[in-house]
Amino acid sequence: MNAESKSTSWNKIGKWYDDTVGEQGHYYHQTLIIPNVMKMLDLPSTPNASLLDLACGQGVLSRQLPSSVTYTGLDLATSLIRAARQYDKNTKHEFIVADATKGLPITKKDFTHAAIILALQNIQDPFAVFKNASKHLIPGAKFVIVLNHPCFRIPRQSSWKVDLDNKIQYRRIDRYMSDMKIPIQTHPGKGQESPQSWTFHHPLSSYCYWLKEAGFSINLIDEWCSNKVSEGKAAKMENRSREEIPLFMAIVATKNA
Ligand SMILES: C[S@@+](CC[C@H](N)C(=O)[O-])C[C@H]1O[C@@H](n2cnc3c(N)ncnc32)[C@H](O)[C@@H]1O
Repeated sequence: MNAESKSTSWNKIGKWYDDTVGEQGHYYHQTLIIPNVMKMLDLPSTPNASLLDLACGQGVLSRQLPSSVTYTGLDLATSLIRAARQYDKNTKHEFIVADATKGLPITKKDFTHAAIILALQNIQDPFAVFKNASKHLIPGAKFVIVLNHPCFRIPRQSSWKVDLDNKIQYRRIDRYMSDMKIPIQTHPGKGQESPQSWTFHHPLSSYCYWLKEAGFSINLIDEWCSNKVSEGKAAKMENRSREEIPLFMAIVATKNA
C-alpha cells in the first residue's frame, strides 16, 4: 500500500466529489444539511463572526455564508482546495491545504465558530481534530459537527433488512461498540480498479468523551432523517423505516471558558 492509498485525503477522488457536490451542494447538502447548519451556527447574531471549516472539501459551506463572515477552509485534498478557490472569490475567504489532525498552518486563535461537515467519519483521529478546533476558537465559540449517523450507518456492519411476515423494513446493526477502519470503493462496479476512501467508525460515547477532553460542552445532539419518498409496492414500509432511522447526526458544542 503506498502513502497515497493510506492517506485519508480525497485528492484522488476530488474530481468525482466536486462533480457530485457542484456549486450548490448535493441533494442532502441543499435540502437538509446546509439549512440546518446555518441555523445552528447562527452567524448573524455574532458581530465580526469568523468560521473555521475543517475538512471543507470544495468549500460548499463557504458559498452559503453571509458575505461579511471571515472564513478559513482547510482540507487535505489539493484538488478540492483548488476547486474551492475557483468557486469562491470573496476576499474574506481563504482555503488552505492542511491536515486537520496535525498542527494547523494558521495563526488565528480567535475564531468565533467552527464546523466539520460530513467529514469526521473520514478522518483517522477525531480527537486530534477536536483539540485543533479548541486551540483556534475563543471561549464560548460554537462548534457544529455533522456526521453520518454513527449508530445506524456503519459501512459493512449495518444494513436494511425486510421482515416479510410483518411487512417491516428494519435496520440491522452487526457491530457498534468497536472502533473500525473500513475501506469504501468510490465506484463499486469497477472492483479493485475503483479509487477508495476510508471510513472510521466510533461509538457515539467516544465522540462525546473526546469533545469533553478537548474542552467542549455539548449543547445539542440532533438527528436528521432522509426526506426522500419511495413509490411503488414497498413504499409504505420504506417510507416508515426512512422516517424512523436517521441518516445524519449533528452535534452543537461550545468551547468552555
Ligand atoms: C465527504 S468529504 C466532505 C467535504 C465537505 N465538508 C463537504 O461537506 O462537502 C470528506 C473530506 O474530508 C477530507 N479529509 C480527510 N482526512 C482529512 C484530514 N486528516 N484533514 C483534512 N481533511 C481531511 C477529505 O479530503 C474530504 O474532502
